[in-house]
Amino acid sequence: MESTKILMVCLGNICRSPLAQGILNSKITSNTFVDSAGTAAYHVGNPPDPRSTEIAKQKGIDISQYRARKFTKEDFTKFDQIFVMDQSNFEDVIRLAETKAEQDKVSLILPFEQEVPDPYYGGKEGFEYCYSLLDKACDQIIEKMKL
Ligand code: 4NP
Repeated sequence: MESTKILMVCLGNICRSPLAQGILNSKITSNTFVDSAGTAAYHVGNPPDPRSTEIAKQKGIDISQYRARKFTKEDFTKFDQIFVMDQSNFEDVIRLAETKAEQDKVSLILPFEQEVPDPYYGGKEGFEYCYSLLDKACDQIIEKMKL
C-alpha cells in the first residue's frame, strides 16, 4: 500500500514542526511518512532548538537527528497533507500553491483557527505548552486520517 505522507510546517523548522514530526512519528504504527519544513531559511541544516529536543526527550522522543530545511513548491506534490502551526505559516505556504488541489492540502494543525504560538523568543514553559498542544493535535490527526 502507498504510504500516507504528512508534512509539518512552521517558520524556522527548529522549534514547533520538528516537535510535531517527532510526536506524530512516535504515535503511528501504520505506513505513514512524516517530515517537517520551515517557511524561512534562517536555520537550514541546523538541528532542532535544544529546548524542543529536551521536551521531546522528557517524553521519550528523540528528535536530535532531525535537520531543518526550507519548504518548497515540490512539497505540494510529495505530501498528502500539510499542517501549519499558525496563520502566518498558512499564508506563506498557500502563496506558493498553484492549484486548488494544492491549497486543499494545507490546514492549521489545531482546530477552530487556533494557533500553536511561536515559542522561540520565550522560555521553557512555551515549549511545554507547544508540546501539549501538538500532542493533542497529533491524536486528532490519527483519528481523522485513520492512521
Ligand atoms: P519555529 O520557531 O518556527 O517553531 O521553528 C522559530 C525559530 C526561529 C525563529 C523564529 C521562530 N527565528 O526567527 O530565527
